[in-house]
Amino acid sequence: MKQFGRWLLPGLLWLAFSVFAADGGSAQPVLPRQVAVASANAQATDAGLEVLAAGGNAFDAAIAVSATLGLVEPESSGLGGGAFMLLHLARDERDVFIDAREKAPAAATRDMYLDAQGNPNRDLAVNGPLAAGIPGLPAGLVHLATNYGRLPLSQSLAPAIRLARDGWVFSSKNASMLGFRKDVLARSPAAAKLFLPGGEVPKPGTRMRNADYARTLQLLAQHGAEGFYRGAFARKLADGVRKAGGIWTADDLADYRVVEREPIRISHRGYRLITVPPPSSGGVALAEMLNILSGYDYPAMSRTDRVHLIAEAMRRAYRDRSIYLGDPDFFKVPLDLLTSADYAAGLRAGISPTHATPSILLPGVGEGSERVETTHFSIVDTEGNLVAITQTVNLPYGNAFAVAGTGFLLNNEMDDFSVKPGVPNAFGLVGDDANAIAAGKRPLSSMTPTFLIGHNKVTAIGTPGGSRIITMVLLGLLELMDGGSAQQATDLPRYHHQYLPDTISAEAGALGSEEVQGLQAKGHNVSVETRTWGNMQIVVWDQGSGDVEAGSDGRWKGVGKGATRDVPADAAIFR
Ligand code: GLY
Repeated sequence: MKQFGRWLLPGLLWLAFSVFAADGGSAQPVLPRQVAVASANAQATDAGLEVLAAGGNAFDAAIAVSATLGLVEPESSGLGGGAFMLLHLARDERDVFIDAREKAPAAATRDMYLDAQGNPNRDLAVNGPLAAGIPGLPAGLVHLATNYGRLPLSQSLAPAIRLARDGWVFSSKNASMLGFRKDVLARSPAAAKLFLPGGEVPKPGTRMRNADYARTLQLLAQHGAEGFYRGAFARKLADGVRKAGGIWTADDLADYRVVEREPIRISHRGYRLITVPPPSSGGVALAEMLNILSGYDYPAMSRTDRVHLIAEAMRRAYRDRSIYLGDPDFFKVPLDLLTSADYAAGLRAGISPTHATPSILLPGVGEGSERVETTHFSIVDTEGNLVAITQTVNLPYGNAFAVAGTGFLLNNEMDDFSVKPGVPNAFGLVGDDANAIAAGKRPLSSMTPTFLIGHNKVTAIGTPGGSRIITMVLLGLLELMDGGSAQQATDLPRYHHQYLPDTISAEAGALGSEEVQGLQAKGHNVSVETRTWGNMQIVVWDQGSGDVEAGSDGRWKGVGKGATRDVPADAAIFR
């Protein structure tokens, strides 16, 4: 009976508490006393701080961080890739989601990566020009500057242009990721010229220069999106891709547009969450998992029971990801259903407190390895503007291909489509019609930049990590809701379940041996891994005190940086 009560007591107590305590009461928030920036590379964090100190707002700083990450963390993101940008505009009390995701070129077809026998050609799907979608990040940066920034693009891009010209410092992370992709990169002379001087992976600490990158940023600064997506530069890009075996045309570039979409809103334990809609699967999956969890008093559970329950919620959300999620401009995603409390109640009914549900018993689409890629950064300024941006070129160093004279690698985001229903992509994720390839369509993503608001605190959170992004963000959010600091949430050892493979994978330290045994006794496969995953970047604004906090993942030892800083009084002229 005790067990029954523990598992089935719906969150009525929480509801009562949350109505009372939502957003921490009615007192006027104290504006942030400082700015805070957290990103995966110290040079990018410093670029953001520089622009904030010069009078830019969080959105100008976001342009500086994004463009700098594209230079100094080319394994993760860049002008050849895409981004999801979540903004909170303090003055309008409005949340904005900018979808700057890559799009399939017009000549893309459903079976373009299948050979004559119908088997996926993995090399074509991830390496070289045929793997690349039409980039969205440059258009996203221009959109950000035009609609939400305060400074001219030339000023927000200046730190990245300077670093590209004068030199940036190659990190241990750059080197480690390049090790995985060296052979593929060597196939592209322009890519090898950028990142394999003398044919070798540079040593950490090497000063790198990239004058072409500086010139491309200047095109954006001078001509806006036109400078990249039309005219001579666009023709050079499309011709370079086609000559090397790709299918881009100049029209594909000219036709690219960012889209503003309505964010997904979730309530949980007296908090409000603002997060990403499709073509990200992250917001829907977060809603599904949190809605399932809201039927249980999970903070009071034993650790084993809690991990079991959370893994069961993860399993169900990833099952639904495989069936129902894709680009909403092409496929009617049943958003209201999947994010509803009633749907979660139905899913809860199938969860046993004592037994794992084998994934094979949950109809879905039918597995892989995982690498670190993508990148996330978070910013809060002294006006209370908030930024959570996750940007990507997909696998490390994207498709490892560059067009000569551009200064950046292209993405291999086409592999985020379901290349063949039921056949796993590079992250072991499977998909169906919803995410089949079509001309002009955006591939499904796991990127999950999110705001958490409540109990007097406002947080921007996100991480890279392929299919594991969503569960990392979930665990980070739960830690923050349990009272953890930004740094504690980033440092937390992680575990993950993604429906298939039917296994709870865990970082060392995430599960004790007793917990592993307890989970196995319930029927779970548990794999404790030696490697780590993710690179979470969080900022928190305490609306009671005005204090801000930045948490930067320590897994890449000193490469990333979270910082808080006073901004000069004359910088805050618009406050
Ligand atoms: N390419 C990783 C993602 O978008 O989820």
